[in-house]
Amino acid sequence: MNLQSMLLTAAVASVVSVAAHAEDKAAPAVPAQELKAKTDYCKTCHGVSAQGFRGAVPMPRLAGQQPEYLKNQLQAFIEHRRTNPVMFNVAHVLTPAMLTDLTTYFKDLNPKPLGGGPKELMAAGKKIYEEGVASAEVPPCASCHGPDAKGADAFPRLAGQLNDYMIRKLTNWDKERGQDKANPDNSAIMQPIAHNLTEAQIKAVATYLSYLE
Ligand code: HEC
Ligand code: HEC
Repeated sequence: MNLQSMLLTAAVASVVSVAAHAEDKAAPAVPAQELKAKTDYCKTCHGVSAQGFRGAVPMPRLAGQQPEYLKNQLQAFIEHRRTNPVMFNVAHVLTPAMLTDLTTYFKDLNPKPLGGGPKELMAAGKKIYEEGVASAEVPPCASCHGPDAKGADAFPRLAGQLNDYMIRKLTNWDKERGQDKANPDNSAIMQPIAHNLTEAQIKAVATYLSYLE
């Protein structure tokens, strides 16, 4: 290691320790062992690398997901804005510090996507993703979820998400998301889009996204 890189390493280390210290005051960090026990538990359903899992119901991929989006969803399960009894049980026992640490943990995982769905739908799906469906007033998905479908902040990553999971979510949007009318949330942004897509369009775009790395 030369002097320049040593100095750089020292500077980075001091920035990190200052940041960690500031974090300490806001919310005590979860001990590594406790975090590991919890993420192991999440992976019993969401797949060994959080890549998603096809069981009786499709378990969504969490790997590479945006922390802010994950946090919003865990909060939505807790507050019954997003209805799912399994995830309510999982989420409502999490301490605020654990909830925060969990959401950042998944961001750095990068397993290969499971893919799925008929490859002949790829071209149609890509077109919808990049151009939207003008006749149905559906804007390009890429305008919010990003050109590479990696998402940003409250906009979720869709790349590598399970096609069967997304098909279910887009089909049932009105019945599962934004269920507390007195407390509207980001799900309202997707509502008209999910509503205006046909079954065939949903299948095509979900298939395309499931193969993206
Ligand atoms: C018993 C199985 C099970 C366990 C354990 C579990 N989950 Fe889930 N999780 C699910 C299911 C099923 C869904 C899909 C819910 C739906 O269809 O709306 C889900 C959905 C989610 C979502 C929404 C994903 C998205 O793309 O919107 C998040 C976030 C999540 N789980 C986080 C976690 C975390 C963090 C843990 C560990 C603390 C965990 N889950 C443990 C079954 C589980
Ligand atoms: C105007 C911005 C916008 C556009 C355009 C948009 N989305 Fe979204 N989408 C969002 C937001 C915001 C969320 C998160 C909603 C929440 O937090 O409840 C979301 C959530 C989703 C989800 C749920 C992800 C999960 O893990 O459960 C899917 C699937 C999805 N969008 C697919 C699409 C597709 C396919 C298109 C194009 C046809 C599209 N979106 C266009 C903003 C947008």
